[in-house]
Amino acid sequence: MANVFPEGFLWGGAIAANQCEGGYLEGNKGLSTIDVVPTGKDRFSVMSGKLKMLKCDASHYYPSHEAVDFYHNYKTDIALMHEMGFKTFRMSISWARIFPKGDELEANEDGLEFYDNIFDECLKYNIEPLVTITHFDVPIHLVETIGSWRNRKMIKYHQKLCKVIFNRYKNKVRYWLTFNEINMLMHLPFIGAGLVFEKGENEEAVKYQAAHHQLIASALATKMAHEINPNFKIGCMLAAGATYANTCNPKDVLKSIQSDREDYLFIDVQSRGKYPRYAKKLLQRKNITIKMNKDDEKILKENTVDFISFSYYSSRLTSSNPIGVDQTEGNVFATLKNPYLKASEWGWQIDPLGLRITMNLLYDRYEKPLFIVENGLGANDIIDTNGNIEDDYRIEYLREHIKAIKDAINIDGVELMGYTTWGCIDLISNGTGEMKKRYGFIYVDRDNNGNGTFKRIKKKSFHWYKNVISSNGNQL
Ligand code: BG6
Repeated sequence: MANVFPEGFLWGGAIAANQCEGGYLEGNKGLSTIDVVPTGKDRFSVMSGKLKMLKCDASHYYPSHEAVDFYHNYKTDIALMHEMGFKTFRMSISWARIFPKGDELEANEDGLEFYDNIFDECLKYNIEPLVTITHFDVPIHLVETIGSWRNRKMIKYHQKLCKVIFNRYKNKVRYWLTFNEINMLMHLPFIGAGLVFEKGENEEAVKYQAAHHQLIASALATKMAHEINPNFKIGCMLAAGATYANTCNPKDVLKSIQSDREDYLFIDVQSRGKYPRYAKKLLQRKNITIKMNKDDEKILKENTVDFISFSYYSSRLTSSNPIGVDQTEGNVFATLKNPYLKASEWGWQIDPLGLRITMNLLYDRYEKPLFIVENGLGANDIIDTNGNIEDDYRIEYLREHIKAIKDAINIDGVELMGYTTWGCIDLISNGTGEMKKRYGFIYVDRDNNGNGTFKRIKKKSFHWYKNVISSNGNQL
């Protein structure tokens, strides 16, 4: 078959500061939201904003503090990515490294230098950095003092962050994503937006208000980016996955459309420049009024994104009458069990064709280039007696997903800019805080309790992916 991936297709991998860097107080970094999220029984309550725990204590373990020590190992790690032939490397900036408290007048030079060094290292190897400005990360000081994204003042602080990084890195970085998985704040509000709820308040109203502030911040960032460097390309980022109807009962079909809209809502605003009519009706029914400034509609309308990026791990399944239908385990996006699909060890259903379906839905809806910035299999890798990691299951997962991408491009005509697998180097799981749930081509010697040397080991998939990239997706 002729090559379907266009020349210059951005093959690569993705990580995020909060799950990789460690060095949580080094280089004058301030405390971030992720730094107070422990493993264990309190994790979910903290992540969902139900349990207020803004300080660390000795009775909990906080995996982000050292994570996989990318902070001290970035040179080795980027060299390994180069060895695999990466064309792009997706990473995020830790806000609290640049503004340790979030509201300072001056940025922290140590933090700025750290990212300068990372970008220089990438550029040395012709790796194009793809930067998420905000990936589940807010300086704790802003949570304590103004309640994070529930407060409109956050927009001003976020703009300051953007101004500093856009100017500083304008000749090094071209591709930017504003907020990672913007729809995540509806599911894990502390993770997505630093929200902690007060007793008795309308949590949904707070979440939609916070989302509105992020949407305005995203539009203003897009505006500023284009002014600072017209070559910048700005993307939104959605936790995607088409929702299927459990049966052909029209009620199930309608339910699946409504479920998808809960996620599309945010991207509709970022890409089409306005709240869709269904969203206005939805909010009315919920009796929620989003407080808007008089210019907000104009800001959203005039500053839409250049491309649509998304994560894809699985499709979803819904029913108008879910009683008696099994649920999947262990996924933030709880969904019904699809009997046609297998699942990972963590209960995430595996659906390569669902990726092609999702790509088609997104491309039909927005008619903008897509970028798959997360996809992969979380698995418990075992080092065998020869010291190797034979992760054939990961190769199979990725191979089937890349085949589906090929069909989306070749048969359906979807425009795709690039593909970055999640956790190209093992990192801390966002959902569970575990190390054991690994996604990488590169193994990191570190366990769930913080033991290990941080040594890096190439897995079998490392060599496989290298060949995928060098053949531009021809050899899978
Ligand atoms: C996405 C996030 O939700 O999925 C990542 O953008 C996250 O931060 C990834 O790590 C995989 O989820 P998990 O829970 O397996 O880490």
